[in-house]
Amino acid sequence: MNVLDAEFVKGFIRMANDGWEQGWHERNGGNLSYRMKMEEVEQVKENFQPSEWKEIGTTVEKLAGEFFLVTGSGKYFRNVIINPEDSICIIEVDSTGTKYRIMWGLVNGGKPTSELPSHLMNHEVKKLATDGRYRVIYHAHTTNIIALTFVLPLEDEVFTRELWEMATECPVVFPDGVGVVPWMVPGGRDIAVATSKLMEKYDLAIWAHHGMFAAGEDFDLTFGLMHTAEKSAEILVKMLSMTPYKRQTITPDDFRHLAKDFNVTLPEKFLYEKDVNK
Ligand code: 13P
Ligand code: ZN
Repeated sequence: MNVLDAEFVKGFIRMANDGWEQGWHERNGGNLSYRMKMEEVEQVKENFQPSEWKEIGTTVEKLAGEFFLVTGSGKYFRNVIINPEDSICIIEVDSTGTKYRIMWGLVNGGKPTSELPSHLMNHEVKKLATDGRYRVIYHAHTTNIIALTFVLPLEDEVFTRELWEMATECPVVFPDGVGVVPWMVPGGRDIAVATSKLMEKYDLAIWAHHGMFAAGEDFDLTFGLMHTAEKSAEILVKMLSMTPYKRQTITPDDFRHLAKDFNVTLPEKFLYEKDVNK
């Protein structure tokens, strides 16, 4: 089967374009990766033309032999739907989890996203934690989340609580909360280690003054998670633009009632007492 006819490839391209249309992917900003199912590898492997092995820049032993569909470094989300063969690629991870090779795509040259260490380390954590259910890692330059990283303390508890308060669906959509990575140089192993550590606890990790990573089972859930958190951040930015004080809000006890009715567990560390007006 032609790679572009495969359903997982169509879903990937649609998600990239949805992100572009949200305004989260200026220039080459953001990147997306999908851990392929073995039957999907079978579907498209007739198109594979292996290139040489290259260093990943970190070790992901538990991903040995896995195949990923990934956006290219320096490639624009804007162009993924227009020219997918130039913008995205399928890679294989070697048996040691230290190298990858391009099997398809990037027809005009190039390499996978510079955030490949973060993507693969996050995939490794999520694969183990979810018994292989999670397959998507998504990095976007979400405007309002980024704006808030200049204003709120860079603490998991504060970002989680403020995002939960701004939209009732948030604690149901991300009951485990949101992690925050302080500003770090992007594109390397250090930020990948910091992010994947947070992914042990959360499905969302904010990169201060940069953007956000989301992890999920499929394209809809992962995009929906990014979208929900960013929408909540937008409401908080609007609110703070009107007044620094909330006249009323959702209280810790309200969250406890919500948790009961919606059958989710909300960690008490996010339900701390604070001045109701702040
Ligand atoms: P790439 O073009 O290498 O994917 O980098 C974009 C980006 O957002 C880096 O954090
Ligand atoms: Zn980025």
